[in-house]
Amino acid sequence: MAMAYTSWSLLSTRLFCTNKAKRYSSSLLSSTDLFCANKATAAAAPAATVLYCSSNCFCCACNGRRRDLWWSWSSGKHILRCLKQLQRNGTKARARASSVRWDNPSKRLLSTAASAVEVGGVTISRDEVVKEEDPTNNVPDTIFSKIGMQLHKRPDHPLGILKNVIYNHFDERYPGLFHKFDDLSPIVSIKENFDDVLVPSDHVSRSYNDTYYINSETVLRCHTSAHQGQMLRDGYTHFLVSGDVYRRDAIDATHYPIFHQMEGFRVFTPNEWEKAGLDGTTLAANELKETLEGLAKRLFGNVETRWTDSYFPFTDPSYELEIFFKEKWLEVLGCGVTKQEILTDNGQGGKTAWAFGLGLERLAMVLFDIPDIRLFWSSDPRFTAQFTAGQLGIKFKPFSKFPPCYKDISFWISDAFTENNLCEVVRGIAGDLVEEVSLIDKFTNKKGMTSHCYRITYRSMERSLTDDEINFFQANVREEAQKKLNVILR
Ligand code: PHE
Repeated sequence: MAMAYTSWSLLSTRLFCTNKAKRYSSSLLSSTDLFCANKATAAAAPAATVLYCSSNCFCCACNGRRRDLWWSWSSGKHILRCLKQLQRNGTKARARASSVRWDNPSKRLLSTAASAVEVGGVTISRDEVVKEEDPTNNVPDTIFSKIGMQLHKRPDHPLGILKNVIYNHFDERYPGLFHKFDDLSPIVSIKENFDDVLVPSDHVSRSYNDTYYINSETVLRCHTSAHQGQMLRDGYTHFLVSGDVYRRDAIDATHYPIFHQMEGFRVFTPNEWEKAGLDGTTLAANELKETLEGLAKRLFGNVETRWTDSYFPFTDPSYELEIFFKEKWLEVLGCGVTKQEILTDNGQGGKTAWAFGLGLERLAMVLFDIPDIRLFWSSDPRFTAQFTAGQLGIKFKPFSKFPPCYKDISFWISDAFTENNLCEVVRGIAGDLVEEVSLIDKFTNKKGMTSHCYRITYRSMERSLTDDEINFFQANVREEAQKKLNVILR
């Protein structure tokens, strides 16, 4: 018997269903646990298949429909009992009792499409990236599942639309000059990510708290500047690199551990600055400012712009561009004149250059009125269908806002505690259903122990969450926080 859902996907040995209609063969079920993340009908399931569903669950062994089935241990026992009963009765039970295993059911909601992904023609397998037993690796499954999504390559996705408008700006201003790259692998060496762009050895961005390490030598790039060195060594002097970048971070409406950046880079020769009657640095700085002011106007219309001084390890001078938009100064991008050392070390000595890096989500949220960064990852047609390739002017119309649910957690922290680690635990359990994690209280007692209280906001952008789900998430967060973060719950 075959039945219809969509997107069945095999993650290790388990079968997950993330939404509707795709055929699967029932033989798969005999050796695999089956999870379903949305409305499945018990009637459609083969006999003795156990379906765990996010809102309603069905024990097909006894045909029982139970709301609590997927999250309680007692329901695990219930299913086992039913299956044994079935086998005793001689019914052809396809799911053997021993195949019913329990683990965190929220994984269904976070499940990915594959155990390997492809970026720019290169296959990246889960085992290469996620190594739970390796202390030099801190990449969770939730991150692996997003590698290869390439949102910026979808022409009708807000990030793809924005990327293409920026490409057009450069094509018109400098016909045929800029090389564009948008599918370079996000897996880079620490040399590329940090050393090549002169990030000091004690810079915070190198810490395990801030960056995803695959091993002590390899990371998921935390900025597109990671490609500057290699591009220059390969002889490119005018390039735009866009891609997904990864940073361990707090959780709120504007922060997500994966986002997208575009890097721009242009080299100048002594000939060019002599012709302009300027020194190399002044020419680069002037040209940089002109190009980016033009870009800001192209994106935002005739807005006021201003430059502020900034710091980046790879540029000097460094600037930030701000625009006056909706009554506020808004930071748009970081940039500067590339440090000589980078050019000399990478085969472009005796020249000057400018570089900029901009966050695509940050700009797209403003341009398309997108209120929450999680929406970029949504496959809900109520989001995706609102955008059209090539159209920057569209404003997102929120579909109904579902109610938030707040849960607090308090604990005594250990010396090693960091907020980013807590956020990762919460995301590992609730995925994109967590909207915000914020510190609401903090104190140190007479014995010198420090207590933190965090408020976790759970909210789906697509539906109302049930109390059962939230309680399940929160109970798991408490358990995992204690286990993984070495904190003492209060
Ligand atoms: N890499 C910087 C960041 O991620 C942005 C940047 C790129 C700044 C190039 C200057 C030059 O914040």
